[in-house]
Amino acid sequence: MAVHTADESELPGAEFVVVANRLPVDLERLPDGSTRWKRSPGGLVTALEPMLRSREGAWVGWPGLADADVEPLVEDGLQLHPVRLTADEVEEYYEGFSNGCLWPLYHDVVAPPAFHRHWWQAYVKVNQRFAEATAAVAAEGATIWIQDYQLQLLPAALRELRPDLRIGFFLHIPFPPTELFMQLPWRREIVAGLLGADLVGFHTSGGARNFRWLATRLADARAGAGRNEVLVGDRLVKVGAFPISIDSAALDRLAHTDAVQKRAAEIRADLGEPRRILLGVDRLDYTKGIDVRLKAFHELLTEGTLDADDTVMIQLATPSRERVEHYQQMRDDIELTVGRINGEFARVGHPAVHYLHQALPREELAAFFLAADVMLVTPLRDGMNLVAKEYVACRYDHGGALVLSEFAGAAVELTQAYLVNPHDTDGIKATIAQAANAPAEENRRRMRALRRQVMTHDVDRWARSFLDALGLPSPADA
Ligand code: ADP
Ligand code: G6P
Repeated sequence: MAVHTADESELPGAEFVVVANRLPVDLERLPDGSTRWKRSPGGLVTALEPMLRSREGAWVGWPGLADADVEPLVEDGLQLHPVRLTADEVEEYYEGFSNGCLWPLYHDVVAPPAFHRHWWQAYVKVNQRFAEATAAVAAEGATIWIQDYQLQLLPAALRELRPDLRIGFFLHIPFPPTELFMQLPWRREIVAGLLGADLVGFHTSGGARNFRWLATRLADARAGAGRNEVLVGDRLVKVGAFPISIDSAALDRLAHTDAVQKRAAEIRADLGEPRRILLGVDRLDYTKGIDVRLKAFHELLTEGTLDADDTVMIQLATPSRERVEHYQQMRDDIELTVGRINGEFARVGHPAVHYLHQALPREELAAFFLAADVMLVTPLRDGMNLVAKEYVACRYDHGGALVLSEFAGAAVELTQAYLVNPHDTDGIKATIAQAANAPAEENRRRMRALRRQVMTHDVDRWARSFLDALGLPSPADA
């Protein structure tokens, strides 16, 4: 990855700044003590990176390692400004408050959130540090786009330091039902933090509605003249729904390349040319319902609805948040289940489930998408789920079938997928069997409809609609 250290005094004040917990690149320490950069995990980076490169902005974020002193960098014209976190802050702000409290709370408490005061104090302190780092980078009157649940106090903290800035905030995960949000001991502070923005964006209108309600109950906000705004004193805060997407055309192009097609054929051949390949691609996270689909697959094999002689399942799982307890437990459970299924149904050289706990390059992922007959996206709750859209963008051949949880934000747009309730094991089993056995023409009809949505509603359109609402002209108009 081409990353060059820059002399901060030579970097111009940025007119457009993205702030996220993570930089788009992640510093990795190798066993010999040396370091190297790799792409950061997760959907936030997938979505924002292409958009920011076309705008030549700056990105403020953590480089992914504790206690790393990293100078500002320039990567392909993009300024990267690292924010340092100590090992204690990684534990308390990132693993603790962000991923042990907010993440499960905002995802329908599918795991129990923990409310620790020392985690909260670290969250406050780190949000303040991000405010100072952003204030130092932004040009007079610049536009700042803050991302996600790790930085919900940043809009107000930054406004305090730099009232000249135009501030947008987007939440990449679900905003919870008000009853769940009310459990948070620091609910007022979080709402007040978000209200520091000029525009607060969510994936769905339900999230926006919940936030408006809470803003008027927990902070001094009043309903504005329109449905999509609230007033804080005499300041207008816009609130809206902006469903995120992917660089659909780029993935479609990638899937068309000879290299990806050849690799897709190779994958099928390596698997012994099975009749059907079922595929899951996720960060290894307990919200993704990986256990749900393994259980359904196991039962389908046991009952003989699917046959391990001609059907294989592949689960690709990016390692994630490996020091957080819920994640360790879930990994053990999943690996146990994979072992059980293979113990019962594999033959020598022919596993029933292929499980890779690895992050793969984009080309390789595209090849897996092209090779898969049934894509399994079964989260218990997900803000959007970009994997579902990536699968559709790769299927320019109109092949394949998408099984999609109703509780992923993507289900609002991808209505022609095979929709499932991830809590209903029998329903999932029946739907997987239906998708696997449907006439090719039925699946092609669905895929054509899905592609009409995904190819026209791409990440550029998402970013433009958010930034238009924030009042920033697009680069073409500027
Ligand atoms: P989340 O943001 O919660 O991780 P999304 O589905 O929105 O979920 O985004 C996940 C992103 O990570 C997608 O761009 C997907 O392609 C990528 N990804 C998931 N699993 C892997 C993997 N094993 N290797 C490489 N990239 C992956
Ligand atoms: C999701 C979150 C992002 C996060 C990503 C990866 O996409 O919305 O904010 O960056 O997961 O998780 P990590 O904890 O590794 O940053």
